[in-house]
Amino acid sequence: MLVLGIESSCDETSVALLDGDGRVLASSVSSQIAAHRRYGGVVPEIAARAHLDNLPFLIDTVLSDGKASLSDIGLVAATAGPGLVGALLVGLNEAKGIAFGLRCPFVPVHHIEGHCVSPFLTLSGQPAREVPPEWTALVVSGGHTHVFEFRPGSITRVARTRDDAAGEAYDKVAKMAGLGYPGGPVVDRLARSGQARNPFPVPHFKDGSSDFSFSGLKTAVKARLLELGFTPMTGVPDAPRTLLEEDAPESLRNLLADFQEAVTAQLLDRIGALHQQAPLTLLSVSGGVAANSLLRERFSEWGRKSGVEVLLPERALTIDNAAMIAFAGLLRSRTAGAHEGLGAPARSRWGLETLPPLIP
Ligand code: KG4
Ligand code: ZN
Repeated sequence: MLVLGIESSCDETSVALLDGDGRVLASSVSSQIAAHRRYGGVVPEIAARAHLDNLPFLIDTVLSDGKASLSDIGLVAATAGPGLVGALLVGLNEAKGIAFGLRCPFVPVHHIEGHCVSPFLTLSGQPAREVPPEWTALVVSGGHTHVFEFRPGSITRVARTRDDAAGEAYDKVAKMAGLGYPGGPVVDRLARSGQARNPFPVPHFKDGSSDFSFSGLKTAVKARLLELGFTPMTGVPDAPRTLLEEDAPESLRNLLADFQEAVTAQLLDRIGALHQQAPLTLLSVSGGVAANSLLRERFSEWGRKSGVEVLLPERALTIDNAAMIAFAGLLRSRTAGAHEGLGAPARSRWGLETLPPLIP
């Protein structure tokens, strides 16, 4: 039995084919970055239209890469939320149509649950690692910075960002520095070529909560940019990029190194506090920002020191992809009543903690 997965919640169109053991047989991602770059962020209508254009080709591609035909598919899964509704509807309806036509089950998938299970997958042709009944998941992406506890019988959100997501902070800092969109990869590279000299403090809430906050850091970066003589760019830029990566001065590289340290330190601070409250055994760290080089180093190091197994997805599985969606769909399909089937609507906002447990 093969699983077809479709992801279209934001600016990546993706289709993947998995087998019943969670082996990734084929996976294709079409990024729309070029289409959105000149606007400095994702334009919902452009995203929806691009999904519509890309999907048929991607479906054909994964079927041919996976040496399969539509009739081999026994399960279809698609992202039903959270995300841009127009974008979601394209992939969701395509998937429902295929499932209906094939008379096979359809499983709506929560995008964040997909990120949470992505570290259990490999792209080397091996079956997926078994998902345990209990683990803690940190999701750091452009839209989310959350910690969830997966337990038998429950999914609990134990921390969330109270303002910007970590990836959003990367994107906004890159934009202010004139480095274009998206900001994560270029800021990561420039930060690694600089030296962190002036640390930004890790913010704490008075109520002692483990929630995250990145908007103060963004404002502090803006103030330092001004001190360094930059004119921080906001709004829609005149040009997609006003500063070439290779032209970034040392002072900016050092500032970005301070910023990258501060993001990573805050994520580690919160996970460390949660570990103090109730020891973790397995921690997954996923989402677009899990591609970050410093984050990967620091979390692996922390795991070794703290005796916690830290699972990071392969880099290609950190960005939005349909392999994680197909896998989450496969896991959900095993439990009666764990999803809404063909009746599932597209949801722009959707708390993962409102779902039935992944493992009852
Ligand atoms: O998971 P994702 O593809 O989309 C969402 O669901 O949001 O994450 C995209 C985010 C963007 O904000 C991007 O700047 C960030 O991930 N990102 C990174 C890196 N690569 C991508 N952030 C930091 N370092 C990176 N190397
Ligand atoms: Zn995502």
